[in-house]
Amino acid sequence: MIEVATPGKLYIAGEYAVVEPGHPALIVAVDQFITVTIESAVRNGSIQSQQYSDLPIRWTRRNGELVLDHRENPFHYILAAIRLTEKYALEKGTLLAFYDLKVTSELDNSNGRKYGLGSSGAVTVATVKALNLFYDLKMDKLTQFKIAALAHLAVQGNGSCGDIAASCYGGWLAFSTFDHDWVKEAQKKWTLSHLLESDWPKLNIQPLETPKNLRLLIGWTGSPASTSDLVDQVNQSTENEADKQEAYQQFLADSKACVEELIEGFHNNNVNKIKRMISKNRQLLAELSHITGVSIETPALKQLCDLAEACGGAAKSSGAGGGDCGIVIADQKTGILPLMSKWEQAEITPLPLHVYHYRGGTK
Ligand code: PMV
Ligand code: MG
Repeated sequence: MIEVATPGKLYIAGEYAVVEPGHPALIVAVDQFITVTIESAVRNGSIQSQQYSDLPIRWTRRNGELVLDHRENPFHYILAAIRLTEKYALEKGTLLAFYDLKVTSELDNSNGRKYGLGSSGAVTVATVKALNLFYDLKMDKLTQFKIAALAHLAVQGNGSCGDIAASCYGGWLAFSTFDHDWVKEAQKKWTLSHLLESDWPKLNIQPLETPKNLRLLIGWTGSPASTSDLVDQVNQSTENEADKQEAYQQFLADSKACVEELIEGFHNNNVNKIKRMISKNRQLLAELSHITGVSIETPALKQLCDLAEACGGAAKSSGAGGGDCGIVIADQKTGILPLMSKWEQAEITPLPLHVYHYRGGTK
């Protein structure tokens, strides 16, 4: 039996700007996993996911009609990952087979409330990695990232694929997304193998060392948020108004400068600089909220961050915001117990997660 576990992720900085090619974000993999197992089968196969049986299916209305939101349904990510990996396997002359594929998840809790730790990205990567072993395709990490990114984009349509990078590589990463239009055009013209072997313009995935004295804390607000909806809202609100478009371009430039300085803080082991840039990124996201009218730092996230700052940390919403998690960067020497009890009073749940690094093997 093949078993592959991939970690969830948290955005640390650079959100929203990272959707635009060439704009960096800082992302980290955390030690909660999606596990995919594959066993050979005869004549027909099966797909079974814990994520599916327990999760409510979300729906919305378009022009009054009820439509299921495929972007929230893990099955579509698994299917897209299978289709693309098998397309690649065929191009490499592999004989396709039957198998039973099973998913278990620590990234969704039992009553279906998501933590926002990137379960759709993790299940996409885990499926690609498991089939890579099943068919003995010998793909390197970058190729696995590219297949998983194509699969994820085929379902979600928007987004940077930073969550795919975090699940694929583990640890702390500086990440900038590729030119999506270029990839879409190339996908129409080329074989999949040719596309995967080419350099993707603007893509940058750079593993970072963890500074020695840095502590990462994670708080959960308990309310779920839909990243794809929030990204759509930001895009739509800046599309047609010149003023807003100009302010958005300024946000992109400021976020880029901020995250580059943050990454420099990692290279120089400078926790103070990292903290300053986390606070700066919080301000920039507040400006983005102001420009677009999209609520990124909800009242619960504001409270989470303000309490952390009062206890000596630098804090911000993680990812798209609108709920989910907030992150705090503190010096190792800063005691965390006062913050934990303040969070408890404010009904913020500390998530006891650690940064996850791959060490060979299946995990
Ligand atoms: O909410 P999350 O953790 O899925 O993060 C989304 C981050 C964005 O930059 C807003 C979108 C993206 O795809 O990068
Ligand atoms: Mg989120």
